Amino acid sequence: MVCGSKKKSYLKSQNLKIFGQGKVNGIVEISGAKNSALVLLVATLLTNERIILENVPRLTDIEKMENILKNLGVNLVDKNNKLEIDSKNISFKELPYELVNGLRASFFCIGALLSKFGEATVPLPGGCKIGSRPIDEHINGLKALGAEIIIEEGIVKAKIKGKKNKLHGTNIKLKCPSVGATETLIMAASLAEGRTIIENAAREPEVQDLCHMLNKMGAKIYNSGKQNIIIDGVNKLGGCTHKVIPDRIEAGTFLIAAAATSSTIRISPVIPNHLKAVINKLQESGSEITIKDNSITIKGKEIKGVDINTAPFPGFPTDLQAPFTALMTIANGESKITETIFENRMNHIHLLNKMGANIKLNKNVAHIKGVKTIKGMNLVGSDLRSSAALIIAGIIAKGISRVYGLEHLDRGYENFESKLKTLGIEITRELSIENLSEKEYKINPELEEIRHIKAA
Ligand code: EPZ
Repeated sequence: MVCGSKKKSYLKSQNLKIFGQGKVNGIVEISGAKNSALVLLVATLLTNERIILENVPRLTDIEKMENILKNLGVNLVDKNNKLEIDSKNISFKELPYELVNGLRASFFCIGALLSKFGEATVPLPGGCKIGSRPIDEHINGLKALGAEIIIEEGIVKAKIKGKKNKLHGTNIKLKCPSVGATETLIMAASLAEGRTIIENAAREPEVQDLCHMLNKMGAKIYNSGKQNIIIDGVNKLGGCTHKVIPDRIEAGTFLIAAAATSSTIRISPVIPNHLKAVINKLQESGSEITIKDNSITIKGKEIKGVDINTAPFPGFPTDLQAPFTALMTIANGESKITETIFENRMNHIHLLNKMGANIKLNKNVAHIKGVKTIKGMNLVGSDLRSSAALIIAGIIAKGISRVYGLEHLDRGYENFESKLKTLGIEITRELSIENLSEKEYKINPELEEIRHIKAA
């Protein structure tokens, strides 16, 4: 089980020790998608009947979302990767800041709570390491659906206007295909009166998975995965059982690790259509890829430099930009990586250069000249996906690397190091207890037993 956030300081003192120039080989099982499971958990607020969610990844972000739902009064039975959720006794209350802070997806609750209670009070999600993360699209869309919204002292207060206590369908045109805004508005519109059309909607597989589950609950949503989503509001939503789709970002991360080590692995379960842009770029850079039903086999060969521009789905996903950049550091030839989604998602570049990569960064464009090899060293990940990129760099590098900042990694990759170990990588999670202050160390007796655990 991943350590909960209460031992956050303890997590900071952990690192992954990686012996470089490894090869991966074998089969890796892909977990359920974090960015689907999070929004599906929010959607359970829309019904008073039981929802069973299967294939839920065990991640700290999921634990945080579970705590938020429990705080609202949701009865949640956690059977490891299967959750039984019953929201019939939830009570209206403000989402507490200490629970929502650091979990942007918690803000997506606003649409569901507004539809359920006619009002919602949710703290503003802070910006984070990768960008300012505004919520104007969420706010404008909810206003168009008939909500009155006040933002004061970092708290967003939403209330349905008029006596009906129901939102009303309308046409909404998003200025950018925001995943979160599309999801917030779909949930709000599913119980509104009349038809809502969301133009320039996000088409990501996680948005489609949300629509799939809502339709199982009785919603009337059409065209998910297309540019304009249509939602005909219904009076109530029922329960259902739903299996979370496989995590395309985890899958892509392992494909990139195989390409970077010129190795052969098979990943499954996956939905190949969710990875088209990534598969195309890996093939262009020299890997051989075969697809069979719900599995993909990659044979990494010589690596050629290729250019990528991140884009909304079905384009190349921003969440795989950092891992792909790590791959390009040792490609033959030059490559250009352009991040178009987030304004500050190049934090890994300077660390890759410290390892010996040759990258010139100009705002959000990285110009990479491939080098023969990079060298292992101590590295600190600053966000979820850059941490994954540093681990790939550690696997490529000559010598030993230690990657810190595992509190980021554990947010989004289930059992990452044990999966890599199974594939043949020499990687261990090291605890450096002495980093803990005496006070912290004494408070938590559980840490006592951890002291005796040899590094895994
Ligand atoms: C989701 O974030 C994902 N998170 C992110 O994954 C992912 O990188 C992102 O979509 C893009 O695919 C979850 O699903 C929990 P956006 P989200 O709203 O919804 C701008 C990971 O590593 N924007 O699509 O917050 C925004 O500034 C995480 O797993 C507005 O301008 O992303 C950004 O430039 C990181 N106004 C762009 O849209 C708004 O109201 C895309 O953001 C909302 C967004």
